[in-house]
Amino acid sequence: MIAPREEKGAQVGAVLVIGGGVAGIQAALDLAESGQKVYLLENRPAIGGHMARLDKTYPTNDCSMCILAPKLVEAGRHLNIEVIAHADLIGLEGEPGRFKAAINRRARYVDGTKCTGCGLCVEQCPVQYAIYEDPKDLPPVVLEARDKNIVDPILAKHRTDQNGAILVLKDINATLGYLPENVLRYAARELEIPLSLLYRLATFYSAFSLVPRGRHVISVCLGTTCYVRGAGKLMSRIEQELEIQEGQTTPDMRFTLRSVRCLGCCSLAPVITVDGETYAKVAEKEIPKILDPYE
Ligand code: FES
Repeated sequence: MIAPREEKGAQVGAVLVIGGGVAGIQAALDLAESGQKVYLLENRPAIGGHMARLDKTYPTNDCSMCILAPKLVEAGRHLNIEVIAHADLIGLEGEPGRFKAAINRRARYVDGTKCTGCGLCVEQCPVQYAIYEDPKDLPPVVLEARDKNIVDPILAKHRTDQNGAILVLKDINATLGYLPENVLRYAARELEIPLSLLYRLATFYSAFSLVPRGRHVISVCLGTTCYVRGAGKLMSRIEQELEIQEGQTTPDMRFTLRSVRCLGCCSLAPVITVDGETYAKVAEKEIPKILDPYE
């Protein structure tokens, strides 16, 4: 049973927040900041809810974990919040201001007070699930000589690296300008890495592209700060100037237009970059002047 805590002889209210998704976490944080003792109840083994499984958030496409992770850490460390995960509410009685909740905490088979999240238990676990396909099952890929001469040295360079997959993708993307499908298949087979893992990396990082890009890449930041300061209008103006839509490349391969989420310089919002060069506090009317010098 969770009962109000005692403090210096007087009873002080305690709050039970049910559900450790982002809404529950934020509610717990707000209550905890106001001085309440908060019990945050979650029936899954960890808090975070659906948002922890999302890549991006609507409508600004901000990185989901970038928003959630600081809240998770804060909730986990807040002295006024006690997270009760892997548990269910099995009874509630009382009246406003004086409820008693009965909670069934399910067995975890690890001592939660000693767990540091090191992950060694995962390595030792005798039960294995095949998450990825076996790269040896991929059919052989024959690359054109030009691509092979580029890709083979890159694979050789990063083959033994711990972060080899991402370094390989980075170098191939930088050299070829994008990540062709047959090259990804070839790399997966050669490195014995699941193809789905390479695709996961290739589609997560906006620096990578699965289609050929133009000679100049325009990135318009549509992160929250830039968006509220007019980045949406900048995007529309560039689309109008180049007669393409976001994500497209001009027919002459001069420009590729894409959006990014927060370039890390929000004080300069709205921000665009062309080939990595940053243009700060951009006004709509400046767009032609910015793009003209790029041949
Ligand atoms: S939101 Fe654009 S730089 Fe941060």
